[in-house]
Amino acid sequence: MDEIQKGKRYQRLYVQVESLMAKSNDPTARMATIAALLHNKLEYFFWTGFYMLKNGVLTVGPYQGAVACLELAKDKGVCWAAINSQKTVIVPDVEKFPGHIACDSRSKSEIVVPVRYQGAIIGVLDVDSKELNSFDETDAGELEKIVELIFI
Ligand code: SME
Repeated sequence: MDEIQKGKRYQRLYVQVESLMAKSNDPTARMATIAALLHNKLEYFFWTGFYMLKNGVLTVGPYQGAVACLELAKDKGVCWAAINSQKTVIVPDVEKFPGHIACDSRSKSEIVVPVRYQGAIIGVLDVDSKELNSFDETDAGELEKIVELIFI
């Protein structure tokens, strides 16, 4: 998918997410809806979901895709890298990311976006693709905008 096409797809998705968020204020309902929408509308999304900090343990939240790790070892892997750096992390090739946690060997590239509540990081949105190099700055910027809608 070229960048213009991808940008347009995300713009349509943003509008859809916005209108769906109006139907419930519950963060779990909202995260479940975001995961389902993104996963089913963007075909390169092979695993789409949230890991949330629960008493310091990064624990799986609402997701779509194959069964994934329930908890992630602290300070290891891509999700923890996003939390510790407080930034979105794009991984073009998971095998080249030191400490990457492979919940499914079919995942080849990944993006992890921090989720913030009142300025503090409370979890992440994690997306895996079966292809290398699936995620770029367009995905990063658009997914960052979408996760902001969870607490609006
Ligand atoms: N790869 C992630 C673990 C979660 S799975 O991708 C669903 C990581 O390294 O943190």
